[in-house]
This record gives sequence, structure tokens and C-alpha cells, in this order.
Amino acid sequence: MEFLANLVRFFIYLSCSCMVLSSITIFKINFVAFGVEDCEFPAIFNFGDSNSDTGGLAAAFPSRIYKPYGDTFFHEPAGRFSDGRLIIDFIAKSFDLPYLSAYLDSQWTNFKDGANFATAASTIRLPNLIIPNAGYSPFYLDVQYTQFVRLKSTSQPKTHGEYFKRALYTFDIGQNDLNQGFFSNLSIGEFNASVPDIINSFSTNFKNIHNISGGRSFWIHNTGPIGCLPYILDAFPSAQKDEAGCAKPHNEVAQYFNAKLKEAVVQLRKEIPLAAITYVDVYSAKYSLYTHPHDNGFERPFVTCCGYGGKYNYGSVACGGTIHVNGTQIFVGSCQRPWARVIWDGAHYTEAANKAVYHKILTGAYSDPPLPLKKTCYKTPK
Ligand SMILES: *[C@@H]1O[C@H](CO)[C@@H](O)[C@H](O)[C@H]1NC(C)=O
Ligand SMILES: *[C@@H]1O[C@H](CO)[C@@H](O)[C@H](O)[C@H]1NC(C)=O
Ligand SMILES: *[C@@H]1O[C@H](CO)[C@@H](O)[C@H](O)[C@H]1NC(C)=O
Ligand SMILES: *[C@@H]1O[C@H](CO)[C@@H](O)[C@H](O)[C@H]1NC(C)=O
Repeated sequence: MEFLANLVRFFIYLSCSCMVLSSITIFKINFVAFGVEDCEFPAIFNFGDSNSDTGGLAAAFPSRIYKPYGDTFFHEPAGRFSDGRLIIDFIAKSFDLPYLSAYLDSQWTNFKDGANFATAASTIRLPNLIIPNAGYSPFYLDVQYTQFVRLKSTSQPKTHGEYFKRALYTFDIGQNDLNQGFFSNLSIGEFNASVPDIINSFSTNFKNIHNISGGRSFWIHNTGPIGCLPYILDAFPSAQKDEAGCAKPHNEVAQYFNAKLKEAVVQLRKEIPLAAITYVDVYSAKYSLYTHPHDNGFERPFVTCCGYGGKYNYGSVACGGTIHVNGTQIFVGSCQRPWARVIWDGAHYTEAANKAVYHKILTGAYSDPPLPLKKTCYKTPK
């Protein structure tokens, strides 16, 4: 009886405090749970590939991004390999910062709120062949680092070093190293053995960027489920499929890359104890769009929105190109409902998918340590 009475009192107490304190309580609970205020960053510096390129490759090699890229949000090509915004755009917006200017873009650019060194087709390691001989960007991670060194040494805010110390540093790179391996003469197993070397190269650049910037807040995306992308499924039709229908060996290499990246982050935290380094499992966030498309508001997750032909609506003519069918010219344009699609052009995500992934990773549910994006300047609570 006494137990029951206590229980009842407990519930009354709970409901009372909720009613009386309302939204102030919610704020206080958050405040107590994390013990800290939201992070404020004066700038974001991003390093990466097409997953976070906001105009770098398009500035270096004009006219590589055609209509209907950008149609959904910018209503014109906006240097992004999507119909709209990327995850990094939503991250910048969440900190009330403008969309990041590409370091390589000399037009309408100032770097007062940070800079984006990412270019589409960038790798971590020196690529074998670069544009125009093959698809890789000359601006691989080592180059992105040297560009950052130059920006830091020539920019006005250097007068107060706090600007670089207090900035957020974000990374999303590695997918093209995997891509290069898959389309090389190496077997998957042979290429897989070079993953630790790729990660070492990432760590070296990370340490250099930390050393030169004195930065304290770092946000690292792991690599996505590359084996789910239509261009991989189309190129390797006989690859064994996993439970979602993605190319299993390709996703396994991505998972191995991510396991090694996570180990590297643990090591980096030891070497740089003052830095808050968040590892974000973008792989799982993206993978859930393939396993549970409807829960996330999507349909036909393996079918390219802007493409033409074949099982994945992905073929020899790319998004924005034209194809001749039975003597008629057909423009390879957007699908009717890009907001309900995961894949934009066979290799890149739609704005809707990017937004969905952003909302998943925002909460900390996919992060190590599991702090929300807004608390990413803090280290794990002990
Ligand atoms: C792959 O091997 C073939 C035959 O040995 C060779 O001709 C080709 O150049 C190689 N390609 C690459 C990317 O190494
Ligand atoms: C890659 O290498 C790791 C470590 O040797 C191994 O555990 C994993 O099974 C390999 N994956 C593939 C796809 O070869
Ligand atoms: C860190 O940067 C300084 C220049 O600011 C350089 O002299 C030093 O060698 C760098 N240290 C490492 C470990 O790279
Ligand atoms: C092209 O013509 C062939 C033969 O008439 C027909 O079977 C096919 O459906 C046509 N393709 C398109 C895209 O109209």
C-alpha cells in the first residue's frame, strides 16, 4: 500500500511540475543534461568531395553542372551535385551562418564565415588520373589542406587567431578513394587491404589542419553506403546483394573504411586531448533511407530521379544530357517528385534525402560522442 501511495505521489509530482513549469522546465532539463549552452561558431571550414561541394569543382572546371541541377531549391545550377542543398548547407544554416563559399570560387565570395575546400570527385590520397583524363579532382585532401594554410595566412581575421580556434571544422571525404579502388584492376579484397593507408592519410591531414588552425571543434562524417548507389549497382550487376538490395562487397569495404576511421578518431582524441572530435555515422543514417524508405517519406530508393534507362533509371547519358531514342531527342531531366526520391543523379542524393539525413544526425543519435550538433564544441561528458 505504501509503495502504491508513493507511486501515486510520484506521478502527481511529475504531472504538477510539467504543468507548472512548462517550457522553462524543458529548457532546464536540457541545460542540466548537457550542462552547457549551444555552441556558437564564427565560421565553418569544410573539407570533402561532392557530398559537401558547394561550388568548388564548378568554379575550377566551369560548365560541369547543368540544368536541372539545383532546380528544387536554387532554381538554377548552384555548384552542387544535387537538385538542391547538401547536408553541409543545413549544418551552416543551423548555426545561422550563410551557405559556405567555395574556396576556389572567385566570384561573389568572401570567407568571413568560413570556406569550403571540398570539390566533387576529391579523394583523400593522390588520385591516379585527374580531370580531364579521368574523373578525379586534382584537389585531393593534401591540396585542400594547403589551400587552407594559404587562406589562413592571407585572410584578415588572422589578426584575431580566435576566429580559427573557435571555428567548426567538418569533413566528408573517402567515397572517391573507394570508388577509385572499385573501378581499378584490383580485386575488392586487394583494394580493401589499402584502406588503412587511406585512413592514415586522412589522419595526417587532420593533424595538420588542427596544428595550423588551433581548432577545437571537429565534425567528421564517415563514408556512406556506396554499394546502394545506382551507378555502382549498374556497373556491378552481378555483385551479391545485402538485405536492403545494395551491393554487399562494396558496402563491406565502406564499413571497413568506417571502422578504421573510427579507430583513427579514437587515436586522434588521444593525441589532441583539447579538441572535441565528433564521429558521425552518416553510413547508418543514409542506409536507413534504403531499408525504410516509406518511414522517411521516400519511394523507389534505388531509382535515379534524374537519369535515363535500365533498372535504376541510370545509364550512359547523365542527368542534364540529351539522348536520341527512335529519332527523337529526349532531355534527361528531373523526375516528377524529387522530394520523394533518395537518389538524384545516380551517384548523389536529392535535397530531400540530404535534409532527412541532416535531421537524423542533428540529434546526436548517430554521433560518437552522442551529443547533438549544437553541442559539438564539447567533449564527451565523463
Ligand atoms: C588494367 O590491366 C590491363 C591489362 O593488364 C591494363 O591494360 C590496364 O592499363 C590496367 N588498368 C589500370 C587502371 O591499371
Ligand atoms: C577488409 O579487410 C578487413 C581486415 O583484414 C577484413 O576484416 C574484411 O573482411 C575485409 N573486407 C572485404 C570486403 O574484403
Ligand atoms: C605545426 O605548424 C607549425 C607552423 O605553424 C610547424 O612549424 C610545425 O612543424 C607543425 N607541426 C606539425 C606536427 O606538423
Ligand atoms: C522505339 O521504337 C520501338 C520499335 O517501334 C518501340 O518498341 C520502343 O518502345 C520505342 N521506344 C520509345 C522510348 O519510344
